[in-house]
Amino acid sequence: MTIDFKGKDILNGFQFSNQELNVIMETASYYEMRVKRGEIIKDLEGLVVATLFFEPSTRTRLSFEAAINRLGARVASMAEPANSSIAKGESLEDTILTVDGYCDCIVMRHPVSGSAARAAEVAVHPVINGGDGTSQHPTQALLDIYTIRKEKGHIGGQTITFLGDLKYGRTVHSLGYLMQQFNNKMIFVSPESLRMPEEITAELKSRGADIEETDDIKYALSQSDIVYVTRVQRERFPSVEEYEKCKGSYILNNDLLKYAKPGITIMHPLPRVDEIATELDTYEGSAYFRQASNGMYLRMALLGLVTGRHNICYSI
Ligand code: CP
Repeated sequence: MTIDFKGKDILNGFQFSNQELNVIMETASYYEMRVKRGEIIKDLEGLVVATLFFEPSTRTRLSFEAAINRLGARVASMAEPANSSIAKGESLEDTILTVDGYCDCIVMRHPVSGSAARAAEVAVHPVINGGDGTSQHPTQALLDIYTIRKEKGHIGGQTITFLGDLKYGRTVHSLGYLMQQFNNKMIFVSPESLRMPEEITAELKSRGADIEETDDIKYALSQSDIVYVTRVQRERFPSVEEYEKCKGSYILNNDLLKYAKPGITIMHPLPRVDEIATELDTYEGSAYFRQASNGMYLRMALLGLVTGRHNICYSI
């Protein structure tokens, strides 16, 4: 089957068909195999990819830049907006129109929800959303399902608990759609003030999602094949006082793990603060650093597909 991604923007977690998701997973697996074989890959040779990060990032920016380098393309990077003409008041649209003339693909992170879609409106080349405000982080959700496939052997038919800041955590907003798409049950556990936004829960339910909300962490862990923990997003709170009320309200540790379903997989998009005790790092089901590594292969796949340089047909 041929699915043509060439020129497509990657903007949210609900834009993909199951067939498209399978192609992305197979492509990530293909690049992982080639990297692990030590191949010098030249699929994107001659191309330039711009990485525009208007917000801090370690994993998303560096895994994209590593992916670009491993594919044989070159990076034009803006990691410090304070040193760009944004500081002089240039608009996002003018910045994108300018950068679009220098490159073949734009990867962007921005603090304002909807900014990736605004960039895609004006850019000729594909725009990949590396996280926009509290809205979406689709490449994280894609690497999350790639991780679930590797850790569990399959993506669907499981129970996943989302634990933490479900209000401001854009990763769970994107992943929720993909979990619904693969018929997983979702359990939401959060402080009352950090519940999943009602419009997202309602949209997921309208798509047929099986969702349970509870404040009983032990019960949720006992039911779950996967627990996906998120950090309380300090930078999104309206005030320090509001953040102080919520921080540290849940910490997954060895004591809580005793209540979990045997074999539970622990995931986290990282960075973590204190919501997963470091004592859990040696638990074999702790997948969060493997999850971070998977990000590079998944992002290689997206770059190969949206530039049209990777066009192998898969039987899916
Ligand atoms: N998971 C994630 O988006 O991490 P960074 O903020 O470090 O990119």
